Amino acid sequence: MQEILAELENRREAARLGGGERRIEAQHAKGKLTARERLEVLLDPDSFEEYDMFVEHRCADFGMEEQRVPSDGVVTGWGRINGRIVFVFSQDFTVFGGSLSEAHAEKICKVMDQAMKIGAPVIGLNDSGGARIQEGVASLAGYAEVFQRNVMASGVIPQISCVMGPCAGGAVYSPAMTDFIFMVEDSSYMFVTGPEVVKTVTHEEVTAEELGGAITHSSKSGVSDMAFENDIEALLQLRRFVDFLPASNREQPPQRDWQDPADRPEPSLDTLVPDNPNKPYDIKELIHKVADDGDFFELQPDHAANIVIGFGRMAGRTVGFVANQPMVLAGCLDINSSRKAARFVRFCDSFNIPIVTFVDVPGFLPGTAQEYGGIIKHGAKLLFAYAEATVPKVTVITRKAYGGAYDVMASKHLRGDVNYAWPQAEIAVMGPKGAVEIIFREDRNDADKIEARTDEYRRKFANPFIAGRRGFIDDVIMPRNTRRRICRSLDLLRNKKLENPWKKHANIPL
Ligand code: HXC
Repeated sequence: MQEILAELENRREAARLGGGERRIEAQHAKGKLTARERLEVLLDPDSFEEYDMFVEHRCADFGMEEQRVPSDGVVTGWGRINGRIVFVFSQDFTVFGGSLSEAHAEKICKVMDQAMKIGAPVIGLNDSGGARIQEGVASLAGYAEVFQRNVMASGVIPQISCVMGPCAGGAVYSPAMTDFIFMVEDSSYMFVTGPEVVKTVTHEEVTAEELGGAITHSSKSGVSDMAFENDIEALLQLRRFVDFLPASNREQPPQRDWQDPADRPEPSLDTLVPDNPNKPYDIKELIHKVADDGDFFELQPDHAANIVIGFGRMAGRTVGFVANQPMVLAGCLDINSSRKAARFVRFCDSFNIPIVTFVDVPGFLPGTAQEYGGIIKHGAKLLFAYAEATVPKVTVITRKAYGGAYDVMASKHLRGDVNYAWPQAEIAVMGPKGAVEIIFREDRNDADKIEARTDEYRRKFANPFIAGRRGFIDDVIMPRNTRRRICRSLDLLRNKKLENPWKKHANIPL
């Protein structure tokens, strides 16, 4: 009996060692934790229940029958984050470079299937050389099995990828289909074709970091939601992040005990918007000042910074914030900001998370770059996402709400549930100057006349009361009371019921 018990312990020990001491040292030398060390940081102590530790690959080609490592390059199972269940897989770069074999894929699929049955998030820690080259098409089939599950799970359970090493070729498409991607600076990269292929095909010389590193994807491409300095920071932030999310679409977002009074006034907001309508201010200040304890988990802060998205809590309950940022491109909507916000709005709607929108938008960004890039289709994504969303939607217009962008930003007409405006709000087809130059074209060379007309236009139309008169704005509120009014509205909307007509799925302008 003693021998049998020892045998189990020996087998476990072998599995825990992965690709061996030498490769573990190499992993540490790169500033990376091993697959199991990462799970220790991510999960609550002693909460990890590992599955399939003894799984091995079935490949007999290229001498592989001699090289079988228990767990086959991925550690899978479930555990808890602050007490809440999550399913995890963590690729082990020390075993065949974390490459994906048929058996490795089956392990990932098993936890995804379990997560779907139980209704809990899946977190993938990616660190892999891609398809297990020795296995050929069996490995490609394994990827496709994962992809299919990513799609089926989308909108049912939250899926989060943390890319902590290489992720190249078709392998990138699994993280790409998950809801959020986190990356680690200097040690992770994602690309469809690597620098060598790029050089051969396009003659461009580019490093892996420039082509697909964490900074590239969190600023230029927007593929990644956040970049973190190292493994530990990424995993700790991931713990904080998961706290905002419901376990599945069957649940409401988690409700926390909160200390911050829901009716807390914030007098400094009365002077947040400058007197000069062309002067910027930081919309993040508003978010920090209304959210519980100023706690805001911003996503994609360095990509399309003209719109701000992220999670916070109001009276203990998760909300998604979407806000135009006057500090960048005057808060205009463009291609990237529309896509960024549209995907976020759809995530919130899938997972019953109310959306709070702060509007200060002078319109869509003009120019050939935008038109040739398809702003019509991309801008429509955001419009579509807001119009489709049935979760509670509370909107506050802080200053400008011009033209089509007014309609897009969770207006009353897109089933906004409660729409407020601050007294400084200007809701109009366009800014006073532009409007006067068109409707009083004959006066355009007379500066005094234009100024007088502009003043007249501003007084008449650039205020919230015309929209208020029509009921498009439910109330004009004191900025200092914004938190109280939003909390009250969200409380009111808790049992909101709204359903879209039955359909197989809508055809969002992709
Ligand atoms: C099998 C692999 C592997 C792979 C790495 N290894 N990638 N084994 N299949 N795909 C093994 C190496 O042989 C090595 O084994 C160990 O992992 C570590 O690799 P190194 O090259 O020493 O590490 P490093 O220098 O850090 O380079 C990492 C790397 C490089 C950049 C990922 O290994 C690499 O380029 N690998 C090939 C990547 C690739 O082309 N994959 C296929 C992509 S196509 P030892 O025994 O020496 O430790 C693809 C299609 C997916 O993935 C399609 C889905 C639809």
